[in-house]
Amino acid sequence: MKTIGILTSGGDAPGMNAAIRAVVRSAIYYGCKVYGINRGYKGLIEEDLEEMNLSSVGDIIHRGGTILKSSRCEEFKTEEGRKVAVKVLKKYGIDCLVVIGGDGSFNGALKLTELGFPAIGLPGTIDNDLAYTDYTIGFDTTINTIIDAIGKIRDTSSSHERVNIIEVMGRHCGDLALYAGLAGGAETIIVPEINYNVDDVCNKLDTTKKRGKRHSIIILAEGVGNAQDLGKEIVARTNADLRVTILGHVQRGGSPTAFDRILASKMGVRAVELLLDGKAGRVVGTRANEIIDMDITEALSMTRDFDKETYEMAKILSI
Ligand code: F6P
Repeated sequence: MKTIGILTSGGDAPGMNAAIRAVVRSAIYYGCKVYGINRGYKGLIEEDLEEMNLSSVGDIIHRGGTILKSSRCEEFKTEEGRKVAVKVLKKYGIDCLVVIGGDGSFNGALKLTELGFPAIGLPGTIDNDLAYTDYTIGFDTTINTIIDAIGKIRDTSSSHERVNIIEVMGRHCGDLALYAGLAGGAETIIVPEINYNVDDVCNKLDTTKKRGKRHSIIILAEGVGNAQDLGKEIVARTNADLRVTILGHVQRGGSPTAFDRILASKMGVRAVELLLDGKAGRVVGTRANEIIDMDITEALSMTRDFDKETYEMAKILSI
């Protein structure tokens, strides 16, 4: 019988609970024991863990956040810290670990694998910034949260004939801005992957105003810069009646969409199957609607191609 540890690490993402549920339930179904490690690598080092059973994961598939809690842990980045972590894992007889998180968390999983401890990564981040997978768990829910906000802001924006800048998360990745901007019908989308200039943004405001639009929504990815600064520049050039909304952490919460719950469930089961097959040092992802897994080193070395085609399309649709 294998004993599996599971933790969530880095920024939480809607759907992490569905992934935890899938790992715990499928592992128990296959006769394994599971330990839930609280507060990510920090909790592992501090020995904050407990055995999970079928009902530990009841009533959570629809909940945002993570029942295991999460953290960003500096100590685990040191060799000392990792040695303590491995000691704790051995003390509890844990044979392998499932890590749900983003690239920082995967780096931790890679380090454990290099120390000879088997680990598997599941992509849990709203940012969709992992190159090896088409989607990460949480991304779809966050897009839906953003488009809900865009809709509400547009109502007031058109009543007052204003320009609204909405700053969205995503770290260095523009995917949240791009896809939420497209789905929300934003007039302008600004992402870190594509250079922009303020004059073009202002010209666009002018053109859309001339053709009778009563509002203008600019979606700005946080990786580009500060929305307030951009707002000031636009006002200085156009004298527009402009408001700025920084959506912030509202984007990280909420009940996961069906897409994220299904993705998380499938990925969780694949992680357990891999561990039962004796495979480790791998990450689970999705490509062309299939669940895939690949070597963690290879996955981390890949660079993400920005979806320029969709970006150009969004531009055409917002003329
Ligand atoms: O990686 C997820 C994310 O929400 C990013 O989009 C954002 O830049 C960052 O985390 C915010 O981190 P924190 O919650 O630590 O402020």
